[in-house]
Amino acid sequence: MKVSIWGLGSVGLPLALTFTLKGADVIGIDVNEEHVENIRNGNTHIYEPFGNTDTNGVLKEVVGKKFFPTTDYKKAEEANYHLVTVGIPLDDNMNLIWTPLESALHNLGKILKEGDTVVLRATVVPGTTTGLAREILEKESGLKAGKDFYLAYAPERIAEGRAYEEFRKMPTLVGGINEKSREKAKEVLSTILESYFVEVSDPWIAEMSKVLENASRDVYIAVVNEMAKLAIARGLRPLEVIEAANTHPRVKLLRPGAGVGGHCIPNAFYYLKPLFDDRTGKSLVFASARQVNDEMPLFLASYIDQNAKALGIDKSNKVAILGLAMKDFSYDDRYSPALFLKKYLEEKGWNNIWAYDPMVPKRFDTHIDDIDAVLSDAKVVIITALQEGITAETVEKYISDGMLVLDTKGILTPVNNKKLKVVVF
Ligand SMILES: NC(=O)c1ccc[n+]([C@@H]2O[C@H](COP(=O)([O-])OP(=O)(O)OC[C@H]3O[C@@H](n4cnc5c(N)ncnc54)[C@H](O)[C@@H]3O)[C@@H](O)[C@H]2O)c1
Repeated sequence: MKVSIWGLGSVGLPLALTFTLKGADVIGIDVNEEHVENIRNGNTHIYEPFGNTDTNGVLKEVVGKKFFPTTDYKKAEEANYHLVTVGIPLDDNMNLIWTPLESALHNLGKILKEGDTVVLRATVVPGTTTGLAREILEKESGLKAGKDFYLAYAPERIAEGRAYEEFRKMPTLVGGINEKSREKAKEVLSTILESYFVEVSDPWIAEMSKVLENASRDVYIAVVNEMAKLAIARGLRPLEVIEAANTHPRVKLLRPGAGVGGHCIPNAFYYLKPLFDDRTGKSLVFASARQVNDEMPLFLASYIDQNAKALGIDKSNKVAILGLAMKDFSYDDRYSPALFLKKYLEEKGWNNIWAYDPMVPKRFDTHIDDIDAVLSDAKVVIITALQEGITAETVEKYISDGMLVLDTKGILTPVNNKKLKVVVF
């Protein structure tokens, strides 16, 4: 089987490798030349563990043998199955940027042949498969979807860090524009799937379900983040409140944190927004949840600003942020709460902020890989995500009177006296 995979990012690259590990030949298409070159050299920033190795280790085995990454989309013509992982990112004002997906679809339409199958796997605005995708592919190819070529939607549901396991084990939603399209999508996806398909009647259902999975997590997290604000402001540990509530057999609250980052959950509401705007009026629940989670880093920055003052710590003192990734043990800092927290502290006049995160690519001068150098002499310490090296033992070595410590991961022991405040979620 020959498969083309469009977009070789956090989803597309491990997906492509999973197909090669199951015996398929894969042509990987991406527009980013430097990234494609790094992939060819087995030297990417995309970290996913696989057995005793990882993505770069697998790459070295299969590049040039089973896997052919390229920026030349015409090479995808050799494949009969085309999986599109190019998504719809958002700009800084949370407007949808359609051009990457549109451009991928235009190029794919140009090389599409009779009998080919296209499966969209990115998270999209519901209606994209039967609307935009069908329209562009038909126009560019001159072929009829559902008759001359097959078109389906099967959202990617993996979590970063568990990609290789979840591509195989996660039940896969699939909806085709007709029955034949759904069957063809199952044909290609069954190469890697060891779990079962959830067949739905229309791509819209799968598109909406995928966005609902992410948007509902935004809501569940907003519930505990809002509770965390109430608890923190009263000197209580949010996790103690939540764990107590969770002893009720019908309550399953998540853990609060410094906000919600990554590409998936913060974007979800904005994929639903056009549908609300279109004919349903305003979103109440999803919109409020987004606002609560968005505002969490600002709440924490204000909390630090006020409480540091009470402890006599002025803004020229060193601040240490531990964990820049959007979640524990991740390399992904997209929309990371830690980076927003840093920005809000800077806006409040804190200008000596250092950060430790050995997984996240370096994006500013004071982000270094030596936790002792980051913690030494810091008067404010904030734990935002766990990474190797961020342990209670290490942090506690540096805690002394005259400090404010905010631990959103719940690993430290709380202290609250006139000279020292260790606030623990
Ligand atoms: N990251 C996750 O864990 C995850 C999980 C489930 C679903 N998703 C969804 O999957 C989609 C992809 O996410 P991602 O994290 O892999 O994104 P990403 O930004 O890491 O990767 C996208 C890739 O597409 C490439 N690209 C852009 N325009 C292109 C074009 N015209 N042709 C070919 N390639 C192009 C980019 O260069 C980039 O390498 C998104 O819709 C996301 O919401 C992501």
